[in-house]
Amino acid sequence: MSVESVKRAVAARLSDDGKAVVCLDQTLLPNETVYLTLDKAEDLWEAIYMLRVRGAPSIGVFAAYAIYVLALQTKETTYEGFAAEFTKNKEYLDSSRPTAVNLAKQLNRMEKTVKKHEGAAVADLLAILKEEALAIHREELDMLNAVSEYGLTLVKDGDGILTHCNAGPLAMSPGLGAILLGKERGYEFHCWVDETRPLLQGARLTSYELQLAGVDCTLICDNMASIVMKEGKVNACFIGCDRVAANGDTANKIGSSGVAILAKHYGIPFYVFCPSSTIDFSCKTGADIKIEQRKPEEIKTKFYEKPMALESVKCYNPAFDVTDAELISAIVTERGICRYPYTESLKALFQEEDA
Ligand code: MRU
Repeated sequence: MSVESVKRAVAARLSDDGKAVVCLDQTLLPNETVYLTLDKAEDLWEAIYMLRVRGAPSIGVFAAYAIYVLALQTKETTYEGFAAEFTKNKEYLDSSRPTAVNLAKQLNRMEKTVKKHEGAAVADLLAILKEEALAIHREELDMLNAVSEYGLTLVKDGDGILTHCNAGPLAMSPGLGAILLGKERGYEFHCWVDETRPLLQGARLTSYELQLAGVDCTLICDNMASIVMKEGKVNACFIGCDRVAANGDTANKIGSSGVAILAKHYGIPFYVFCPSSTIDFSCKTGADIKIEQRKPEEIKTKFYEKPMALESVKCYNPAFDVTDAELISAIVTERGICRYPYTESLKALFQEEDA
């Protein structure tokens, strides 16, 4: 597989008949490549909740298609009936995961489109909604290239780069974009891939994507990050993000803030790759970001032949943590590279209209 085809991996799209959403079941990777065709509300919700489709921008695109597909099934004939049903579907899909802002943002954008065309005929609304979902998808793909170009200016040929979770094409995220772009241009990076407990997105997805693209990479357990940094093997850390607050505090996969603290200790730059769809100016700081809590089975039994702890043992399983803005060397966006203090630099790039 070429670097280009890895970058173009389709996380979600409309089916050929346009009535369902097709997505790659990321829970089965790297062992099986299975595409799901989904059109029922419960299945679409479950695909997000179970991380069949995952990664912030990818969830947003999937949700835009999902709400369009559900709207197609309407029996409502009036604008008012259609709009009320649309909002109900929006709230249902939005309840699947709380932290990645892209989910709520893209669903809200679809709902705004309905409201903007108040009084329109249902058939016209459906055509408009389809265009909106396709536009959201196109915009996220365009963003990937722009962020990757900026990201590549932060590293040099031969660098060791540590990654956490999966922020690559499967997530429709630019976190691996600079590495893939560099590969196309002849750079030889070496990636240290955190396995990313408990759902192993690094082991299952990042090392898979990098390997397919021919990028040299080594898988490590999360608690090995410190030693590879101390041994001088890491020149930069690259992570994606699920929600960036107005002051630059960044929610990303659990363990990201630990990587940032280690990076600071060893004097290694820690970069966040951030499409504008992931910035949430309505959150002043990371304290306003809701952290998703997940089930104990993900820690105790999933991926193991036998349970790895007694059934009675309590588990705490937050899916994300927030990295303090002060620990982030740069936030790389499609409009440019922001530096601390982010309240000013993010605002300067994204202006009041997005705020
Ligand atoms: O729980 P996941 O797998 O959806 O979490 C994904 C991440 O934390 C990614 O790093 C993030 O969404 C990056 S994509 C911009």
